[in-house]
Amino acid sequence: MKRLLKGGRVIDPANGIDGVHDLLIEDGRIARVGRDLPAEGATVVEIPAGSVVCPGLIDMHVHLREPGQEHKETVASGVASAVVGGFTAVACMPNTSPVNDNANVTLLILAKAAEANLARVYPIGAVSKGSKGELLADIAELKQAGCVAITDDGHPVSTALLLRRALEYAGMFGMPVIEHCEDSTLKGDGVAHEGFHAASLGLRGIPGAAEALGVERGVLLSELTGSHFHVAHMSARASMRAVRKGKEAGVRVTCEVAPHHFTLTDEALASPIPYDTNVKMNPPLREAADRDAMLAGIADGTVDAIATDHAPHHYDEKRVEFDRAPFGIVGLETAVPLAIDRLVHAGLIRLPRLIELMSTGPARILRVPGGSLSPGSPADITVLAPDLKVRIRAAQMRSRSKNTPFDGWELRGGVVATIVAGRTVYTNPDVETRL
Ligand code: DOR
Ligand code: ZN
Repeated sequence: MKRLLKGGRVIDPANGIDGVHDLLIEDGRIARVGRDLPAEGATVVEIPAGSVVCPGLIDMHVHLREPGQEHKETVASGVASAVVGGFTAVACMPNTSPVNDNANVTLLILAKAAEANLARVYPIGAVSKGSKGELLADIAELKQAGCVAITDDGHPVSTALLLRRALEYAGMFGMPVIEHCEDSTLKGDGVAHEGFHAASLGLRGIPGAAEALGVERGVLLSELTGSHFHVAHMSARASMRAVRKGKEAGVRVTCEVAPHHFTLTDEALASPIPYDTNVKMNPPLREAADRDAMLAGIADGTVDAIATDHAPHHYDEKRVEFDRAPFGIVGLETAVPLAIDRLVHAGLIRLPRLIELMSTGPARILRVPGGSLSPGSPADITVLAPDLKVRIRAAQMRSRSKNTPFDGWELRGGVVATIVAGRTVYTNPDVETRL
């Protein structure tokens, strides 16, 4: 089976490609990228004018909720949401019920993903048994079963010693430790960023320093062990400073930023809807100086990946007092419009850098296939429409949960099609295409 995608702007940062090219797919793999390729028996598909053909987007931080919380999301509903959002692969966090701390859970997730047969799913295992922070999980077993990294996400690794051991073991297997950076004592029972808005609404605060302490600890232990430490959902300016310093010193540290943290600030606690539980997430939306630091890190290369921290919660769980609501928002179906609109159209970065952040970077961090259009690699491809006007509609999302603060937003930048292993798994009904 051969398909020739003709005439799109092909952007492949890993190979330094940005121009109008054709792309030949053969037996689920990329065969060739080049100008005016001959059809030679392939089905020819014209790429819609103005569209961008790029390596499939990879979201390295999603919560799929299966097993155990299928009312929020399942592997099947999660990957359906992913492909609508333009993602050909997602990596899923282990804070399921039971926790993904052993091969059985990992294999269950992989079996569900194979059954759904949409986006690829890369499970991430727990650092500690039950993510309780006491005993290390069997990291070799997790690796063998298919996990690509380890984390106790939702919480930081309980102690510096346990994090050290996790880095040492994960390092032996070539896996990063992904850390939810947070000093639990400083976070306390905070629910929002410590600052003017939390204070004026009477909400308990979480200072940026709670996160930055976790980042500093990880950078130091990464330096000590020589292992790869990855900072999840970074939000505070002092954290960015710590990562930048670490990188300058040659430490193996990488980091990701979520779209909500480069788009919103803690002002959203007060308006347009005061106490909206759809702006409650951990880490919290921070003040403008922190948001600006995330933007600066995205622009100057300090940030390695954009990841959504897609955290579905049921309507009934979110429809309670702010204090009592769970942390988290869905992100898979809003990431591309937010990123293109807020980063590219705002003039902060150009599309190749965005694709690096949403595809090449995550593939490198997790050491998974994809992230490039090199001949021989799997034909995981996203076709973007950078100028498409998009209106976010929570009610129409494919995710089982609708907890987003972006409902009704109009943004410029969308997805035309998502292709996994050469097979089109999503086409946008608002765009005319035969993809
Ligand atoms: O907002 C969040 N939601 N932050 C986390 O660390 C966990 C996540 C979840 O699992 O809901
Ligand atoms: Zn987290």
